[in-house]
This record gives sequence, C-alpha cells and structure tokens, in this order.
Amino acid sequence: MGRIYIFDTTLRDGEQSPGISLNLQEKLEIAKQLAALKVDVIEAGFPIASKGDFESVKQIAQKVKGPVIAGLARANYKDIDTVWEAVKFSEQPRIHTFIATSDIHMKYKLKMTKDQVLEAAYRAVKHAKKYTKNVEFSAEDAVRSDLEFLYRVFEEAIKAGAEVINIPDTVGYATPWEFGKLIKNIRENVPNIDKAVISVHCHNDLGLAVANTLAAIKNGAQQVECTINGLGERAGNAALEEIVMALATRKDFFEHETGIETRQIYRTSKLVSSLTGVNLPPNKAIVGANAFAHESGIHQHGVIEEKSTYEIMTPETIGLAESKLVMGKHSGRHAFREKLKELGYDLADEDINKAFIRFKELADKKKEVTDLDIEALISEQVIKTPEVYELEYLHITSGNKIVATATVKLKVGDEVIEEAACGDGPVDASYKAIDRAVKGQTKLVEYAIKAVTGGKDALGEVVVKIERNNKVYIGRGLSTDIIEASARAYLNAINKSFADTEINAEDVKTTAV
Ligand code: KIV
Ligand code: ZN
Repeated sequence: MGRIYIFDTTLRDGEQSPGISLNLQEKLEIAKQLAALKVDVIEAGFPIASKGDFESVKQIAQKVKGPVIAGLARANYKDIDTVWEAVKFSEQPRIHTFIATSDIHMKYKLKMTKDQVLEAAYRAVKHAKKYTKNVEFSAEDAVRSDLEFLYRVFEEAIKAGAEVINIPDTVGYATPWEFGKLIKNIRENVPNIDKAVISVHCHNDLGLAVANTLAAIKNGAQQVECTINGLGERAGNAALEEIVMALATRKDFFEHETGIETRQIYRTSKLVSSLTGVNLPPNKAIVGANAFAHESGIHQHGVIEEKSTYEIMTPETIGLAESKLVMGKHSGRHAFREKLKELGYDLADEDINKAFIRFKELADKKKEVTDLDIEALISEQVIKTPEVYELEYLHITSGNKIVATATVKLKVGDEVIEEAACGDGPVDASYKAIDRAVKGQTKLVEYAIKAVTGGKDALGEVVVKIERNNKVYIGRGLSTDIIEASARAYLNAINKSFADTEINAEDVKTTAV
C-alpha cells in the first residue's frame, strides 16, 4: 500500500467560493476539525490577501496541532515574507508559492516571458527556502501549459529546493486520461523529480475533479489537494470525502491509503456546510442526505437481507453511526454527557452545562431529540459570536387575512430596545422590526430554511446571508419555531458584522487563484 498525503484547501481555495465569508473563529473551528479528521496539510489561507486572512492563518498556525500549516504566496518576496510571518508559529510550517505557466496566463495576466517566469519561479522558491525547508511550488494552469516548458519550470523549482511540486488543473479542463498521462510524463521527463513529492490540484468545471485526481494517483501522484464538500472557485475543487472514500473502498484497485480518520468525515462536512451556508444536494456522494438511503422496494429488501447487496461502504465508516442512546425529556445530565461522548465531542464542563440547558428546552418541545438535533445545538454553541444584540422577546401576529406584524425586544448591554413593524408575512415583519432597532443598513441577500430532522416537531434551521457595510455575513438560527429561527439567524449575521474588525481593510484577493 502506498500512502497518499491529503492537502486540504477548504480554508483557502474553498473560501474563495462566491458568497462565502468565514470569520476568524469559524476558520479556527474548521481547522481544528480538519486536524481531528487527520488531514496531512491544512492550507489555512492567502495571508497577503487581507488583514483578516493573515490573522486567521497566524492563529491557525499557533493553535492547531498535528497537520502541516501552509499559506499561499504569489512568486514574489512580499507575499512569501507575509506567509512566513503567519505560518512560522506552526510546528510544521509550509510556504506554498505559485506562478502561472500557460501561454495564455503568461501573456495576458502576468505579461511576462517564459524566461522571466522561469527565473521568478526559481527565485521565489530560493527565497522561501531561507525560512523553511518545507516549500511547495505550483505551476498555475499547468494543464494548458507547454509541456517542455512545464518540465523546465519544475526542474528549476526543484533545483531551488521545492520539496513538493504541484500540478493544478486550474480551469478544470483536463480529462482523466490526459491528466493521468500528464503526471506520468512529468514523472518521466523532469530529471530531478525523485527529489520532490508530486501533488495535484483539480478544479471541477467539467465535473471531473475527483476522477482526474484519482487518475493522477494511478500515475504516481503522492499528494492530492482537495476541499470538504468540493467547495471552491466556480464549480469547486475535488471533494476530499470522495477521494478518500474511493481510495478506502477500492483499495484493491488503487493500492494506496490515506491517514484520514474517516469517521470524522460526516461531522466535518456538516460543520463546513453550516458555517459556509452552502447546503449539499441530497444526492451528493458520500455526505448527501440520501447517500445511504434506500428507497426502492427491491433495494430495501436486498439491504435488509444483506447490506452489501446495495451498500459498497457503511454509513458508520464516515461517522454516521446508528444511535445507541435515544434522548428525550426524561434524559438526565449523565445520559446527555454519555451521548456527547458517543457523538465524539470532548467539551469543557461549562459548555456541557450550557448545551444541556438548550437540550432540555428542546426536549420539552420535541418528543425525541435525535443525534442531528444535538449536533445542530452543539455547532451553534461552539461558534460563539459576541451578541451585541440579543433577542429578548418576539411576538408575531400573522394569518391569511391579516397583515403580519412583529414586535421585538432586543437587549443591548443593559438597555432594551423595543420596535414593531408590519410586513409581507411574519419573517418580513420581524426583519423590519429588527432593522428599526439595529443601527446601520442591512440587506437580506439570501434566506434558506430546512428541518434538521423529519417530523412535524422538527427543529428548524435558518441560514441567511446579509450585506452590511459592503460585506456579506452568514447567520444561522435554530428553533422549533421557524419565525424565531429566522429572527435568530438574522441577528446572528448582524452580530457578526459588529464583531468584524476589518470592515475597512483592503481586500486584495487576486484573480490568479
Ligand atoms: O487552481 C490553482 O491553480 C490554484 C493554485 C494556486 C494551486 O489554486
Ligand atoms: Zn485552485
């Protein structure tokens, strides 16, 4: 069995997805969960892009132990110095530097000649090596690059000391046959390739990112770059969970394994989905709601007789275990603690107590509290946004023959602000009442509601995206009352905007990545 290194770029390439914006605390939570998942490398961000990116890479490097912590830099000294200032706190820091190598990128974006790009790549790696031996070099748009030139660039980068050379399909153009051959060609034609780890990074524009990644593994790639739930620019990056489970399920074919703790896959996927506000289609491979559901009678019959008739992997492998402890309003603190243990949470006493209070409130309204309910409550609690405005009271009048009205009382420090408004339905009325109570302009960009579980008494989860001060914030609210969940989600997003200390920081995200 060969070993494949998993390089997770959810917090860098994934965070570049349109409409996603994670704050520092959310990035830290995701990074900690990635460490629990046992990824080999976390690409924590692009430190030169903004003060917020820099700070989050730095804090992840300081606080998250286990994986290598990488930061991305264009092939210039300032970017590289900035990455080092952020990642140097890690026990295992990595500088990841890149430059585009395709004719189209060199001509129109970089306005550089081949010789200039070759020199820039060499000098960037040499410069990064002054800080750490762990340097990765990427040839952006490698797939559309002139092959002979690509060999030379990699040869120079390895001469300068790159320990990992990465081959991105930046625009998701390759097919598995071509991509596999490209990896083979690089392995056979770059003279010093044995001194570096071969890495691949595939985008999903044609829906082929995972297939291309697997073809690369078949042809000698040793590191794969991927994201949770396949998040990423445009159609996204290769999905970590799909690559890992393909390797695990088809060991016989791939003959390679990863160090991933697969039982953490489901939780990681849930966390990323709820913090980014990107819901998964039900038929998403591995982590979609229907990935292990059998609907047709023939399939159900088969699975009851013998699971392997229609199941090629078990839900338990990704951490979707059948619950041993059923929770309800008679469950005490001890059972709750046991349940948290069963679900794999290791919380401080204070957090367990807070979660227990919320659990009891929920159990009073709902007959059976499921694992999904508890996971939802915990994930809401773990990510604490400082509550500038706290929802103290909400009253709604609504119906099919009357104008909806809402009254809210919001607590701000010791003061309570009370406002009322009419609206086009109860959500609109409550959002208008909140708008009156809260300083500044808030625009609702997106609103989504779903039930955490089945059943009429299900916990409702609302995710909203709002715009304040020209920035987008995602808020999440939970309640068995969907209007209350809506108000909580809206306030959660507003509170995040007040907690954002870098509203005016210049955002220099490049078009290069
Ligand atoms: O897609 C890409 O080319 C990248 C590189 C910076 C690795 O994200
Ligand atoms: Zn990319």
